[in-house]
Amino acid sequence: MTATLTTLVNHQARLAARPVGMATAANWQFTEEAVAEPAEGGVLVKVLALSLDPAMRGWMNEGKSYIPPVAIGEVMRAGGIGRVVASKHPDFAVGDTVSGTPGVQEYWSVPAAQVARSSLSKIDLALGSVTQWLNVLGMPGMTGYFGLMDVGQPQPGETVVVSGAAGAVGQTVGQIAKISGCRVVGIAGGAAKCDWVVRELGFDACIDYKTGSVREGLKQHCPKGVDIYFDNVGGEILDTVLTRINLKARIIICGAISQYNNTTPVAGPKNYLSLLVNRARMEGIVVFDYAQRYPLAIAEMAAYLKDGRMKSKEDIVPGGVAAFPDTLNKLFSGENFGKLVLQVAEA
Ligand SMILES: NC(=O)c1ccc[n+]([C@@H]2O[C@H](COP(=O)([O-])OP(=O)(O)OC[C@H]3O[C@@H](n4cnc5c(N)ncnc54)[C@H](OP(=O)(O)O)[C@@H]3O)[C@@H](O)[C@H]2O)c1
Repeated sequence: MTATLTTLVNHQARLAARPVGMATAANWQFTEEAVAEPAEGGVLVKVLALSLDPAMRGWMNEGKSYIPPVAIGEVMRAGGIGRVVASKHPDFAVGDTVSGTPGVQEYWSVPAAQVARSSLSKIDLALGSVTQWLNVLGMPGMTGYFGLMDVGQPQPGETVVVSGAAGAVGQTVGQIAKISGCRVVGIAGGAAKCDWVVRELGFDACIDYKTGSVREGLKQHCPKGVDIYFDNVGGEILDTVLTRINLKARIIICGAISQYNNTTPVAGPKNYLSLLVNRARMEGIVVFDYAQRYPLAIAEMAAYLKDGRMKSKEDIVPGGVAAFPDTLNKLFSGENFGKLVLQVAEA
């Protein structure tokens, strides 16, 4: 029997229906529940900030993927950072800051049986802020780091192109590639994002795909061709980059955000025979495969943050759970500038 913390109410966003195309208000249901004291071995976390990720759109679909879909009626899955407000688990104390997958809600109750297999872990705010732990020190940062270093294996002097360059994954990829001694060319939507990755992050160039030609931009800024393409967007941009790759190029398939709201089948690359001609390879990455190695990468990234070689930009949107549906859609219109974070409570 668990006691109820009578003063606390948990507001939640649940998946009400599977979307066709872009999600709308009809896809969400808002609920509230009383918050209960944790039972023996359990932990209660107050959610501070949620990570809004393009992958969420995929988790709303039926069908086989690297992770089961969110069920209808279930609290929407989301990574986040929170603070322990009650604990009957020896490894967690009230006041600890933790990361995990709380879902789109204000309080995350983790029962004893789930603590070990949940993603719940303590984080050290001396290494980075709450929102940096959702960005370069968190899941997107790990994606960029392992995708580039393990799959891409950059060598000094090589040319790396990254799409979604001003986003969460893209900003990490470009900065790690610069640290690795590469020429780095971003692709992003709009002058403000392109200026930022060049001026603030030190990319060598950035192609604004919304106002210019990606083909011409690649010709101009990648005079020696493309050795590594880190693909966050898929679609036509992937097809265009394939026409500029070098012998033994590596194409990292991280995501295809241009295709996530399609109501027609995903558009595959027409120019894939460029892989044959160039003896190149295209390889997918799922960040969770690298979970055992996160601590090493986090330590490396935290050192770069400290010595100034890495910058971290988050787009923090207030408004809590009620603001979740509109905020999520910013990812697909490109309105977010930096890692999109939904603030749920003051840190
Ligand atoms: N494989 C994995 O394990 C893994 C893990 C994390 C993320 N990902 C993937 O990595 C990619 C980036 O994720 P993120 O969290 O870093 O998101 P993000 O880049 O911070 O935000 C999404 C950005 O995508 C761009 N975009 C939206 N629609 C587009 C379109 N039709 N064509 C081109 N660009 C478009 C927009 O930037 P612009 O304004 O520049 O268009 C938008 O700001 C996504 O595809 C995501 O699914 C994969």
